[in-house]
Amino acid sequence: MIFFLISAFLMCGVESWRPNRPISLLPPLRQGKLVQAPLGNGFSYTTYFFNQRIDHFGFANGGTFKQRYLVSDQFWNHNGGPIFFYTGNEGDIEWFTNNTGFMWDIAPDFRALLVFAEHRYYGQSLPFGSATYQNVSNLNYLTSEQALADFAELVQFIKVNTPGAANSPVIAFGGSYGGMLAAWFRIRYPNIIYGALAASAPIWQFTGLTPCNAFYETTSNTWLQTSKICVANVQQSYQTLEIIASQAGGLNFISSTFKLCTPLVSTTDIEPFKAFLADMYVNFAMVDYPYAANFMAELPAWPIQVACSYLAEPLKGEALLTALSQVTNLYFNYTGETKCVNWTDDGSTGSLGYQGWDYQSCTEMVMPMCSNSSGMFYDVTWDFQKVSDDCYSRYKVRPRENWITLEYWGKLLNGVSRIIFSNGLLDPWSSGGVLQSISDSVIAIQIPQGAHHLDLRTHNDNDTRAVRGAREQETNILRNWLKFNPV
Ligand SMILES: *[C@@H]1O[C@H](CO)[C@@H](O)[C@H](O)[C@H]1NC(C)=O
Ligand SMILES: *[C@@H]1O[C@H](CO)[C@@H](O)[C@H](O)[C@H]1NC(C)=O
Ligand SMILES: *[C@@H]1O[C@H](CO)[C@@H](O)[C@H](O)[C@H]1NC(C)=O
Ligand SMILES: *[C@@H]1O[C@H](CO)[C@@H](O)[C@H](O)[C@H]1NC(C)=O
Ligand SMILES: *[C@@H]1O[C@H](CO)[C@@H](O)[C@H](O)[C@H]1NC(C)=O
Ligand SMILES: *[C@@H]1O[C@H](CO)[C@@H](O)[C@H](O)[C@H]1NC(C)=O
Repeated sequence: MIFFLISAFLMCGVESWRPNRPISLLPPLRQGKLVQAPLGNGFSYTTYFFNQRIDHFGFANGGTFKQRYLVSDQFWNHNGGPIFFYTGNEGDIEWFTNNTGFMWDIAPDFRALLVFAEHRYYGQSLPFGSATYQNVSNLNYLTSEQALADFAELVQFIKVNTPGAANSPVIAFGGSYGGMLAAWFRIRYPNIIYGALAASAPIWQFTGLTPCNAFYETTSNTWLQTSKICVANVQQSYQTLEIIASQAGGLNFISSTFKLCTPLVSTTDIEPFKAFLADMYVNFAMVDYPYAANFMAELPAWPIQVACSYLAEPLKGEALLTALSQVTNLYFNYTGETKCVNWTDDGSTGSLGYQGWDYQSCTEMVMPMCSNSSGMFYDVTWDFQKVSDDCYSRYKVRPRENWITLEYWGKLLNGVSRIIFSNGLLDPWSSGGVLQSISDSVIAIQIPQGAHHLDLRTHNDNDTRAVRGAREQETNILRNWLKFNPV
């Protein structure tokens, strides 16, 4: 999913107004209003809170906090039917629940119990209440390992305390960072997790596993599939912005053309403004869905096609920037209700937990990203030392560059079983995903013309044949796995 638009450009840019913001799995909800797509099957859930241990891996801190989780038993076979367990990611669990219609769509067929567990430090699951983000000692328990241990404790609790659940096989589901957690949940706790569906989970977006340019190259390719001229215009626009910004009245022209809430006041604002645009192109690729949706912003079907309709002819100078402002208008103002474009919005006010992900990117989630000017981006190098120094200045912690690979086995997944890795190939994050099957039971599903975990969304009349096929394959694999279970 993920999250805020916090890009490598800002992370690595020479002059960032907000230095080294990490790229999060979901872009920021700049100004977008979250409206829920109806799930279509009259779904309802009950909210519960579980007394969760703050520290699973030490004994000095015996404290607990309330972890939120949502349960729907309306479809469940109370006599050992399977449990579909969503491993929450970096945000409000309701938001992920509302955007994971696939689980609701297949639950009646499997007669499954649905559980959506919130990730610690997000939504309402705050270990130290309003002081959760106050200092580094309170943040100390925000790790993927602690989150997986929470999920494991919760699964145990549900199985022990729900009549009929003791022998229920548990399948982990997740998208984006939640997909990474679903896969890692199966890897770390195979004793309680029977299998996992990890959608758009970039588990290999880490140091040494994927070239740092892959993410932006994939993004460029997604746009190139729609229009080469469009990409050439975008490529041209960076220099055009710099040239116009340096001319008399140029900054005013840019600010008023793009209807910016905060005007550009100096040529040093151009660098972060370029990064803002680059982030937007990534977002477009993440949500290039075949129907109108409002996952991160309210947009029409195939939004890249619409964006490129404004950039269909080779353009220059002010005409190019004017056309580009129609693209920002599309992304930020499709509803027509946006007064101005808040290009300095960091997403911290949306349902997604910007702060938490920022911290996670400064500790475990080190995802190297770089780009050159061969596609629709510009030159940005990856500088781990700089990222580390910036993290230290923000949180007094330094990232561990290779920890995730050691902890979760990197590419050595031959000893693993029963995981589906699905990836939409339009999605920039597919660059760090598992695109080829590793064995008969660690199965990769590629979805051509699919964006960020499209397969986890509820069915739609305008779904492509590819995503319908992917969902069918996923359902068949789950059926196949589950019939071997003692129900
Ligand atoms: C999720 O959907 C429910 C039902 O439509 C709605 O009441 C709730 O506000 C939504 N929550 C979020 C965080 O989007
Ligand atoms: C962090 O904040 C808590 C209050 O929530 C306080 O008890 C603790 O001493 C603080 N730790 C540091 C290192 O400042
Ligand atoms: C499917 O696409 C058609 C044609 O663009 C459109 O009229 C219709 O509203 C779309 N349906 C959905 C469910 O998005
Ligand atoms: C958003 O769209 C409305 C209606 O077209 C327009 O009046 C308004 O100026 C637009 N806002 C921005 C920021 O472009
Ligand atoms: C822009 O976003 C920032 C950070 O999210 C917020 O504090 C600010 O109020 C927003 N500005 C406008 C004009 O909406
Ligand atoms: C830029 O990146 C592309 C794709 O990764 C690569 O083929 C090309 O050689 C690179 N160009 C330069 C000048 O580094």
